[in-house]
Amino acid sequence: MKNQKLINFPSMAYLESVETFTPGLRVSEVVERYGVPADKVAKLASAENPLGPSPRAVKAIGLALNDLSLYPDWQARSVREAIARHNGVAIKNVIASCGETELMLSIIMAFSEQADEIVFPIPTFPIYEQAALVERRQPVQVPMDQDFTIDPDKLLNAFTKKTRILMLTSPNNPLSTTIEKEKLTYILDHTPSEVLVLLDEAYADYSETGPRTDLAHCYPNLILLRTFSKVYGLAGLRVGYGIAHEAIIRALMKVKPTWNIGNLAAAGAAAALEDKEHYKKTKTLIQTGRDYLVEKLSGFSNVSVVMKPEGNFICLQILDSTISSTDVFEGLLQGGVIIKDCSVSYKGLGNRFIRVDVNVRQKMDHFLSELSRVMG
Ligand SMILES: Cc1ncc(COP(=O)(O)O)c(C=O)c1O
Repeated sequence: MKNQKLINFPSMAYLESVETFTPGLRVSEVVERYGVPADKVAKLASAENPLGPSPRAVKAIGLALNDLSLYPDWQARSVREAIARHNGVAIKNVIASCGETELMLSIIMAFSEQADEIVFPIPTFPIYEQAALVERRQPVQVPMDQDFTIDPDKLLNAFTKKTRILMLTSPNNPLSTTIEKEKLTYILDHTPSEVLVLLDEAYADYSETGPRTDLAHCYPNLILLRTFSKVYGLAGLRVGYGIAHEAIIRALMKVKPTWNIGNLAAAGAAAALEDKEHYKKTKTLIQTGRDYLVEKLSGFSNVSVVMKPEGNFICLQILDSTISSTDVFEGLLQGGVIIKDCSVSYKGLGNRFIRVDVNVRQKMDHFLSELSRVMG
């Protein structure tokens, strides 16, 4: 392209300094880099649904193809209605978004201003920090305790007059641990009403307690974030949603991109909610697979599972100090297994942790045998 010298906007240097998220590798990247045939790759780094999407969602998306030339409803009423019904709330308490990640940005835009502070415990989902930084907000990262639990008072003490949003995740990514009920209510009870609490429940369907819709009825400064990318197997469709007090939703409807939910996305997500059988099958597969993986990993002397995993992945600490998480990551890739190296993107874990998805038995066995080869 011509005239590249003219491209020198003042914002560019700042954006260059913002670290972008490193997602789990794709199968094609492993095929290219290591020459492993695609059907021999175990993709265990993106917490996707091993069963794929619900067949009912796929059918509904096919039917919605007839509407491709039409603009969608900018208020996404049909899918919000389905989400509201599913959660026992009113449509005025629901916003739909192009994945949770878009909603995070809308929340930052609607409820904070430049240089305001956004508090969150670390380690956590790296996109919280990225979203805060691209919107020119100040991320305030509060390290968890050594045992990876949140100290609620330490978190609350990090609040200043400039704090506008608190971001919590349960189950946590990458730890897979949940915030106990008492701790969560303590944090909510002690958070000033002018601070919005975002509770990211992307993996809550896999946890023992499940999603906490009940809390949204009690705290007007709370928004629950959910996604169709995980238990519904629709990561490629890009649909997420939030549940909150109607005043919060009204503000978000003003800042969200106008037509953020396309006709295919609306049809697929609504149909997925109706497929209770697919939901149950996925949940059972993940919960039993998780028990299996934890049990098998207990036989390894040089790795240890971090606390009690409640999501569809497990976080592992490498106990052998001569091997780093990057060594394990690279070693497993050579054997066709993709996992997450927690020294990349995540904050506060150093180079001692990896994250691996719960999946079908054959893929988990592939991981286990490669792990035993790599760890010696
Ligand atoms: C905690 C957490 N929240 C949100 C997301 C992304 O959700 P979505 O696909 O709806 O943008 C992820 C994806 O990995 C995640 O780990």
